[in-house]
Amino acid sequence: MTSLVDVLDLQKIEPRLLTRFIARPDGGKNELWESINSTNTRAIELAADGGAHGTLILARQQSAGRGRLGRQWVSPSDSGIYSSFLFRPEAQSIPNLSTITLAVGVAVSKAIRKSVGIDVGLKWVNDLVVDRRKLGGILCEMTSNSHGKALIVGIGINVRFDEDELPDDLKEKMVWLERITKQPVDPNSVIAEIANQLEDVYLLLLNGQSNQILAQWRTRSITLGRRIIATSGERTIEGEAVDIADSGALIVDTGTEKIELHAGEITIRNADGSYC
Ligand code: BTN
Repeated sequence: MTSLVDVLDLQKIEPRLLTRFIARPDGGKNELWESINSTNTRAIELAADGGAHGTLILARQQSAGRGRLGRQWVSPSDSGIYSSFLFRPEAQSIPNLSTITLAVGVAVSKAIRKSVGIDVGLKWVNDLVVDRRKLGGILCEMTSNSHGKALIVGIGINVRFDEDELPDDLKEKMVWLERITKQPVDPNSVIAEIANQLEDVYLLLLNGQSNQILAQWRTRSITLGRRIIATSGERTIEGEAVDIADSGALIVDTGTEKIELHAGEITIRNADGSYC
C-alpha cells in the first residue's frame, strides 16, 4: 500500500547525498527499520560488530527511543525522523561531546533552513527550538569496543503529530515541522540535507576549526544573553548565559562569579516571566 504522506525511504535519501563518507559506509549499508527499540542502541550494536564509518541508521518508529539524561524520546510511527550516524573518528582527534553536540545542532539548524525554510534556534546543549517549543533533540554517545572508539550521533526531529493524541504537557512544549509549514514535509529531503551539513561540521571539527562552529552556534543560539536556571546533578545555579567556552561549556554569570557549565540542563527565563 502506498502512503499518502512521504515516509522515510533510503531510495529517496541516497540520491540526494552530496557527501563523501556520511551515509556512504565503505563496505556496509545504511539501515532503515520499520520499527526498532532505538537507532542509537542499534548504532552501538553495529559499532561493536565493526560497522563502517558514516553509517546512517533510521527508523520509522522507536519503541524505546532515548533522550538525554535518561529520558524517553516519544517516537510514534512516521511522526518523526529518528536517526543515528555512526562515526569512527581517529582516537587523537575526538573533541568532547559538548562541542560535538553543538556542531550537530549547527548542522541540523542549517539543514532545516535549507530543506524546509524554517529557522531553528539552538538551546544549550542539545535542544532544537522553534518559538520556545522543542522541535527536536540530539543525543551524542561515545562507545568503545574491540574495533576501537565510535561516536554515535542521534538526532530526533518532530515532523508530524496529531495534536489530539498528545498529552497536555507535551502539547505545550513541543512543535513539529508540519505544524509550522502547514503543508506536508518530506522527511527524506530533511535527513539527506542533515547528512550533507553534518559532513561539513564534522570536517571542521576534525581539522581543529571548532572556533568556526562555535561562531555559527552563537548566531543561532536562543541561550546567550538570557537569564537561565541551570541544574547539574544536585547543583542549581541562576544567572545570565554570557558565552560558550572553547570546550563547548556554557558560561554563566551569576553576578558574583562566572561559572562554566559542562553538563546538565538549563531553563531559559522569557521576557514575560515564563520559562522554556
Ligand atoms: C534529547 O533531546 O533529549 C535528545 C533526543 C534524541 C532522540 C534521538 S531519536 C534517534 C536517536 N535514537 C534514540 O534513541 N535517540 C536519538
